[in-house]
Amino acid sequence: MKTIMMFLGTRPEAIKMWPLIKALRKKKDIKLIVCATGQHQELLKQVLELFKIEPDISLKIMKVNQKLEEITCEILIEASKLLTKINPNMVLVHGDTTTAFAVGLECFYQGIPIGHIEAGLRTYSIENPFPEEFNRRVLSLISTWHFAPTEEAKNNLLKENISPDKIYVTGNTVIDVIKKSVVEKYNHVELQWANDSRMLLVTMHRRENIGTAMEKIFLAIKKIVEECENVKVIFPIHLNPLIRTLAYRILGDMERIHIIEPLNVIEFHNFMARSYMILTDSGGVQEEAAFLGKPVLVMREVSERMEGIKENVLKLVGTDTDKIHECVLSILNNYQLYKQMCNPTDVYGDGCAGERIANILNEILSK
Ligand code: UD1
Ligand code: UDP
Repeated sequence: MKTIMMFLGTRPEAIKMWPLIKALRKKKDIKLIVCATGQHQELLKQVLELFKIEPDISLKIMKVNQKLEEITCEILIEASKLLTKINPNMVLVHGDTTTAFAVGLECFYQGIPIGHIEAGLRTYSIENPFPEEFNRRVLSLISTWHFAPTEEAKNNLLKENISPDKIYVTGNTVIDVIKKSVVEKYNHVELQWANDSRMLLVTMHRRENIGTAMEKIFLAIKKIVEECENVKVIFPIHLNPLIRTLAYRILGDMERIHIIEPLNVIEFHNFMARSYMILTDSGGVQEEAAFLGKPVLVMREVSERMEGIKENVLKLVGTDTDKIHECVLSILNNYQLYKQMCNPTDVYGDGCAGERIANILNEILSK
């Protein structure tokens, strides 16, 4: 029996690791130990409860307005104790969060091999997204096995001299989730409210956007709603108090904007499917929207999800108020342009990534 230890800390890690947890739990020669670091508290709990994931180990490290150094140090120390005690054959981390980075660093110190899920995403701009671009590059440097969601991600790794026989192109596990979550019959009081309009779905949370950039984005949204009577906005807001304060100050009084609590992922996917367009700085939302063929304006200067941009379902608009305003209006006022973006694509996967990765891990560990 071989032991795999998996660490997850934030909402997207739990959503995207879930298909893999399910698949690994079916492997009779693998003992899976799931550790939730608690980098997120409520947002993580929401996913764990929804998918009935019961972590074997739960840490509770989150603090309000936590600093990167606090998350890193706490997880490094806790991971050090756990890995020394359990000494797994392999550790799995996901993506580019501080959880993944700090756990990866400790594995490197202890010589424990790392399998990196969602490997190879790059913007090649070290401060965008911050600190994620740094985290993902470090993880590529120290991981043994790289599970790249797309060929483009694999090519990025090859350029960094990662050996091709250690890279597996598997698709993104988030497609496994969204393939099952969107249903034909779905209702919600907020969707009823927005039913008579074009609904723009908004999410916003990137660290590098908090402050001036986010203020400019919110001002653009305000201007769009003021000018377009047939537009309503639903904004499930992140729990970060810095984002909440800013959003309520600029958008809180607008009648046609509903700022609501974070939706669970099944609800969120069904909101996505029923929206007219999505405005976001999220990573995962870009992949999900590409699968649904739902136009997205990405409120960032650069993206690591270039596949969706090439497929024309995602548009990179940056954070300038006038540019966002102009771009949204041009799409709202030009149905042909809008329709060209409604382009469902399987560039991010076929919905079988979890099973695929579990089979590869089983093979690796049986050698
Ligand atoms: C983190 C990840 C980011 C990922 C995002 C997903 C890093 C560096 N960033 O960013 O890559 O896209 O998660 O959402 O790892 N908070 C709560 N309750 C929660 C979660 C957050 O109150 O359940 C508040 C806390 O005040 C916390 C703050 O949000 O201090 C920021 O959380 P943090 O994990 O540091 O950053 P995210 O922006 O969520
Ligand atoms: N999501 C959710 N509820 C919401 C908003 C988003 O469950 O109210 C999901 C979304 O479907 C996606 C994930 O959260 O799967 C994206 O997480 P986030 O944007 O926080 O992080 P990122 O993907 O940018 O790392």
